[in-house]
Amino acid sequence: MQIFGVDIGGSGIKGAPVDLERGDLAQDRHKVLTPHPATPDEVADRVGEVVRHFGWTGPVGLTFPGVVTDGTTRTAANVDRGWVGLDARSLFADRLGHRAVTVLNDADAAGLAEMTFGAGRDRTGTVILLTLGTGIGSALFVDGRLVPNTELGHLELHGHEAEKRASSKAKEDHDLSWERWAHRLHKYFAHLEMLFSPELFIIGGGVSRKAEKFLPLIEGIRAEIVPAELQNNAGIVGAAMAASTAATAD
Ligand code: BGC
Repeated sequence: MQIFGVDIGGSGIKGAPVDLERGDLAQDRHKVLTPHPATPDEVADRVGEVVRHFGWTGPVGLTFPGVVTDGTTRTAANVDRGWVGLDARSLFADRLGHRAVTVLNDADAAGLAEMTFGAGRDRTGTVILLTLGTGIGSALFVDGRLVPNTELGHLELHGHEAEKRASSKAKEDHDLSWERWAHRLHKYFAHLEMLFSPELFIIGGGVSRKAEKFLPLIEGIRAEIVPAELQNNAGIVGAAMAASTAATAD
C-alpha cells in the first residue's frame, strides 16, 4: 500500500509516495524551497505543488515543526506565528481538494518511521528520538507507543532553552568544536536521562550523518545512543505512516 508523505522543514518541503510495507519512498522525492516567511498560505501552496507533481489524489500525511493536536498547529518556535492555533488540517485539505489529510509533529513522524523501520525496530521500554537541526525535536516511545508532542528541545538547561544551546544550528551559530558541542549534548542527555531513564536515544537530523564525530565523545550516559538509520526520509515515511493509521481508524 502507498500513502503520500510530506515533510515541511525550515529550508525545504519534500514529499513522495511511500511504500508502507518497505518503509521507503516508492518514487524519488520532489523538493521545493520553503517560502520565507513560511506563512500558512504560502506553505500550503508549496505543499500543493509537491503533491500535484505526482498527480496524487489519495491520503496525505504532513509533518509540522511544532505541536499539533487534532490537526491544529499550536506552537511555531521556528516558523511564522500565523500557525499558532490554526486548523492546519482544514487548510491543507482545502488546498489539496480532499479530506484525507493528517498533520503531526515532525520529530514524532521521524520517530514513528525509526521505531518501525530503523534504529528503534523491535525496541521496547522507553526510547527517545531527538532530531538535532534548526531546533531540537523529540519523540518519546513507551513500549513502541508514541507519546506525542513532547517538545523536549524546549527544556531549560542552565538557564537556556536546550535547543538554543545544543541544536546543530547552535553548533554553527556559536562556532563550537565537536568536543564543545558534545559537552553540551552530554549535559542535555544527562538531564533527559534523569527525567525519563530511557533504554535508548536515537539521534536524527542532518548532523546524524556525522555521528562518528560526536557520539563517541559523549560518555557517562547509561542509555545506548545510536544514530537514526532512515536519515533524510524519516519524516516523509513517518507522515505517510500516520496518515495510513488515520485512514484505517476512519
Ligand atoms: C519545535 C518542535 C520541533 C523541533 C524540530 C522545535 O523548535 O518546537 O515542535 O519538533 O523544533 O523541528
